[in-house]
Amino acid sequence: MASNHGEQSLMVAPFPTDQVFIGGQWRSPVGGGVLPIENPSTGEILGRLAAGGTEDIDAAVHAARTALDGPWGRMTAAERGRVLARMGREVETRIDMLAELEALDVGKPLKQARADVVALARYLEFYGGAADKLHGETIPFLEGYTVYTLREPHGVTGHIIPWNYPMQIIGRSVVAALAVGNAAVLKPAEQASLTALAFAHIAEDCGLPAGALNVVTGTGAEAGAALAAHPAVNHLSFTGSTGVGVAIQQAAAVNAVPVTLELGGKSPQLVFDDADLDKALPFLVNAGIQNAGQTCSAGSRVLVQRGVYDAVVARMSERYRALKVGAAIDDRDVGPLISARQKAMVDRYLDLGAQAGLIVGQGEIAADAPTGGHYVRPTLFAGVAPDHALAQEEIFGPAVVVIPFDTEEDAVAIANGTEYGLVAGVWTADGGRQMRLAKRLRAGQVFINNYGAAGGVELPFGGVGRSGHGREKGFEALYAFTALKTVAAHHG
Ligand code: NAI
Ligand code: MG
Repeated sequence: MASNHGEQSLMVAPFPTDQVFIGGQWRSPVGGGVLPIENPSTGEILGRLAAGGTEDIDAAVHAARTALDGPWGRMTAAERGRVLARMGREVETRIDMLAELEALDVGKPLKQARADVVALARYLEFYGGAADKLHGETIPFLEGYTVYTLREPHGVTGHIIPWNYPMQIIGRSVVAALAVGNAAVLKPAEQASLTALAFAHIAEDCGLPAGALNVVTGTGAEAGAALAAHPAVNHLSFTGSTGVGVAIQQAAAVNAVPVTLELGGKSPQLVFDDADLDKALPFLVNAGIQNAGQTCSAGSRVLVQRGVYDAVVARMSERYRALKVGAAIDDRDVGPLISARQKAMVDRYLDLGAQAGLIVGQGEIAADAPTGGHYVRPTLFAGVAPDHALAQEEIFGPAVVVIPFDTEEDAVAIANGTEYGLVAGVWTADGGRQMRLAKRLRAGQVFINNYGAAGGVELPFGGVGRSGHGREKGFEALYAFTALKTVAAHHG
């Protein structure tokens, strides 16, 4: 075991990791509780995180409400946009610190962590620029009336986010909410809260008014549930597991509060006989292993037409065998999973596939990978029946199934044959088929001859079915984070 892996520390964090950020103040949580900060690459405990609870959430919600009634609520749209744009530039300036924190906390290979920082900066740029470009409409109506609409912030927005892409999800959720004048309470995941705290620190430095952004770390059962149930929260957005998403929607229902849910997926990539395989191959591989497969929109089912099935399986398994797994700071193809619990969940699926003799290619864990890290071998399964657990359930690890199909009709049935519907990819040169499938695939985004569209922040994103509902990213998020008011004036 290379000793340098053990010497990583939180010295890079220019903020207290064991405090919450409420109303512009850093302070200890009311209950004084702490949670461990684990480095998934080594299993080491790097420091302590504040375990916020009900009282901290309550204080944060009140601080947000106070901000809406104070300087934050009085800012013009252009002023809000300017603060966000300034934060975007500051995020870029601090890319080394942010990427290092994320690599330590999430186990994300450094290059992927840096891409997340760039994405957060881009969200701040995009939504900063959009803040003063969202407007209502005038509506032709009866003689003697003038009718127009106003887009107003909901008020206090609650954001419960997961550990897999903290910075990107802050960008598409919290930043969009702030752009249109909401005041946010952010509850990051207990496994990965450091960049959320860093984001608060940057907001403070860039002059975001006190209370516009509040960050309360803590567990889902305590801080998360308290935020979801708080009667003074006016909108909730959640990204994470379907089970918790449903619980959050139930909590929101009690207060009649709107929710945006971004849940899991089992997203297909459809490869037809006429596909450009050289172009498709890197996407077929990377979409399954990015962030060690812990990605809601992972392309975890590869559906391949018979004519190219053997070629695709051969070429993908060759790539899989060349994959190397290691510590985040060593920046290999794949890092560790987030936790021992996640590894146990993924191992169960790998064992299932091994017992059924479905494994056709596996990467290697590098010899210098620290022994305490939560590593698994990236694994390709082939010849998987569409109704098999491996082809139906979200594995949330670097594991992809390849499924053969005969006709376009079969491909659509298999692609739509899970309870999820987040994204889908189609690889074909046939223009008519591209258009047909774009309509027929049950998903919130369809990619034609690409996958993921380079993460485009401009592109509305979200699911159908048990992948959730509501849209984030693009202008759609700004609509979602506002309530529309119609004003009908009778002037004779
Ligand atoms: P999770 O859904 O429990 O965690 C997501 C967030 O919800 C965290 O901030 C957590 O603290 C919070 N939370 C948990 N229970 C809560 C409750 N009762 N009330 C309010 N907030 C609560 O996800 P977990 O356990 O970390 O991962 C389990 C599985 O969920 C993964 O294996 C994966 O399948 C899925 N998942 C999907 C994600 C996505 O991007 N769609 C992200 C993370 C997990
Ligand atoms: Mg961690």
